[in-house]
Amino acid sequence: MSIQQVLDNLPKDASSAILNKLFISPFFQALGFVDLECYPEYPTGERSNKTDYAVRKNSNENDIFIKTGNNPFLLLELKKRDDNLEEGSSQYLSTKKQLIRDLLAPNCKTVEWGILTNANHVQLFRKHGKVIFPATKCLELNDDSIELIRNRIDNTSRALTVAIYNNKGGVGKTTTTINLAAYLSLMDKNVLIIDFDPNQQDLTTSMGMQTIDQGIYNCLTKKDRDLIALISPFKLKIKFKNETRDFRFDVIPADTSLLNHGDDYLRQLFNIYRFREILEPLYSEYDYILIDTPPNWRLFSRSALYAADVVLIPTKHNNLFSLENAATVIKTFIPEIQKERGDGSPIALPIFYNGESITDSQKRAAQEAIKEIIDKAKKEERFNLVPYFYPQYTKAKKNLNIFTLPSYANISGFQFAKIPAVYKDKKARSYYSDLAKEYFLQ
Ligand SMILES: Nc1ncnc2c1ncn2[C@@H]1O[C@H](COP(=O)(O)OP(=O)(O)O)[C@@H](O)[C@H]1O
Ligand SMILES: [Mg+2]
Repeated sequence: MSIQQVLDNLPKDASSAILNKLFISPFFQALGFVDLECYPEYPTGERSNKTDYAVRKNSNENDIFIKTGNNPFLLLELKKRDDNLEEGSSQYLSTKKQLIRDLLAPNCKTVEWGILTNANHVQLFRKHGKVIFPATKCLELNDDSIELIRNRIDNTSRALTVAIYNNKGGVGKTTTTINLAAYLSLMDKNVLIIDFDPNQQDLTTSMGMQTIDQGIYNCLTKKDRDLIALISPFKLKIKFKNETRDFRFDVIPADTSLLNHGDDYLRQLFNIYRFREILEPLYSEYDYILIDTPPNWRLFSRSALYAADVVLIPTKHNNLFSLENAATVIKTFIPEIQKERGDGSPIALPIFYNGESITDSQKRAAQEAIKEIIDKAKKEERFNLVPYFYPQYTKAKKNLNIFTLPSYANISGFQFAKIPAVYKDKKARSYYSDLAKEYFLQ
């Protein structure tokens, strides 16, 4: 039976009990799961919370998910049919919040997908480590949307792609890209970083590598060129956790030939979709792909954001431009790319302060500036920036904490040493460990 037929037979105001009885089984079947793979009222491990359904394919007769509940793969948050789940509605927002809370709960570490539905609307979210982002918009539920969702789930991309971006220079984009990659490699993650700032080439130079002529440029403009051919490994033997061994991550150096032409000319050769297209074969090879971007809103940055799942935005508390630019990225640039993508991504991760020491009075001054930025966005664009500046802020707890990566001379020193500070220095390592745990690692 098609989902459409199931929906046609459901009362318009079907309660959760009716949906559990008549809807859930064909819904999961359409996504490729049989009844023994669907665990209702799954305990998430956070207090006594239960999520409506957890599912996972059974690997053999002894491994029946409904019996073991081990290693859930997907969670479902089910609402009754007349709950309004249209994107942006208050019920939608509270349901999404609940789904995110469950996805991050202790028993759900292995979960890679989350779905919310009320048998009218449906939306799929991807979870990668700690990061949760939309994989589809909130769609009308029908056979086409089910097919789309099944396709996304069956082709789970291994990599989380992160664009490190702020339209302001000198805020630590390149430094963050390199040291985050180095830290994730210590956690045995397979990481690729891409220097997509051909003007500055700072990433390539700081890694002690050569820029490539006709590298990314050729891949962007010619059908038969492979990005894989441009990858250089960065390898170093270091002592970590009482063990000395090789750690590595991969680098695609900057391409100087991208410099020879203006944006207008390049736009005739490729559009902002093209970079994502050439990256696609690498999504299955890496756990993380980090893209270092230029400090402007032109072809390369747009292409990088179009290719990304999430955008990490370094700022400085004492640089108003970097804070204002971050707001512009979040409320204008990212939505512009989301429109092109049509799947609700990329999304912004909350901003962080990079590489400045901060006194209490400076903190208050920054809070004042941010308050103005937030108020203005709310008034003029009806855009709520609070979660992007103050992720821990709630009405009950007015927590204005912003993650801060401290200023530390040995971090900038790596540019001369050509070795990421994280590999050389314990303190630098602990700073980036905090950053990785704050944003990425569960
Ligand atoms: N946490 C930090 N502590 C000290 N210096 C830093 C830190 N982060 C970045 N820097 C330094 O700040 C300068 C600008 O950083 P960079 O990563 O090149 O910024 P961007 O790529 O945004 O232009 C560099 O000299 C870098 O070494
Ligand atoms: Mg840079």
